[in-house]
Amino acid sequence: MVELIEPETERLRLRQWTPVDRDPFAALNADPRVMEFLPAPLSRAESDAMADRCQSLIEERGWGFWAVELKSTSEFIGFVGLHTPSAELPFCPCVEVGWRLAFRHWGKGYASEAASAALRVGFDLLGLKEIVSFATVGNLRSRAVMERLGMRESGTFEHPRVPQGSGLRQHCLYRLSYEK
Ligand SMILES: CC(C)(COP(=O)(O)OP(=O)(O)OC[C@H]1O[C@@H](n2cnc3c(N)ncnc32)[C@H](O)[C@@H]1OP(=O)(O)O)[C@@H](O)C(=O)NCCC(=O)NCCS
Repeated sequence: MVELIEPETERLRLRQWTPVDRDPFAALNADPRVMEFLPAPLSRAESDAMADRCQSLIEERGWGFWAVELKSTSEFIGFVGLHTPSAELPFCPCVEVGWRLAFRHWGKGYASEAASAALRVGFDLLGLKEIVSFATVGNLRSRAVMERLGMRESGTFEHPRVPQGSGLRQHCLYRLSYEK
């Protein structure tokens, strides 16, 4: 069994998923504001399946899309972390950094704070040479997180899992290389 990596920041704990995360995760996945730039809001079953996948990948590897909780209240606010995309993307194999937070927790710097900790895990503990991130072109809040993290915009690509003709198909790619 691998050792779990569960990084902490000043305000946040990035940790393995627990059963009590399922309700708040389903609520944020059903929120059209949160899902505006993703294909569609998720049903309860789809949300639970995603939480299960995140949990088993963390169990297997020790890292992944971690559940994020506020240290001050222990409230679950969403996920942030590292993932190897399963879609065939033009720049794969790669490790991406990604995020999804409940709407009421936007605008507080939590995504950037958690993602910085995820990048440190990727570079310092996992020895990655590069971490990427991507978002549909219009997802300016997500792209702003990438820019705050110091990632470099590196072209666009069509996401193969988004239907042809959808306004969400065109994605921006950002890259960050390891620097000592
Ligand atoms: C993408 C997403 C995670 C970004 O969340 P966010 O809260 O905007 O991002 P950050 O954590 O970097 O917070 C930055 C904001 O917090 C503000 N902030 C407040 N207190 C802060 C603090 N202590 N430290 C840093 N920033 C702070 C910043 O000024 C900035 O505000 P602004 O948006 O008005 O410029 C969020 O919009 C989301 O979950 N979207 C839906 C899911 C999604 O699209 N995921 C990505 C798919 S590719």
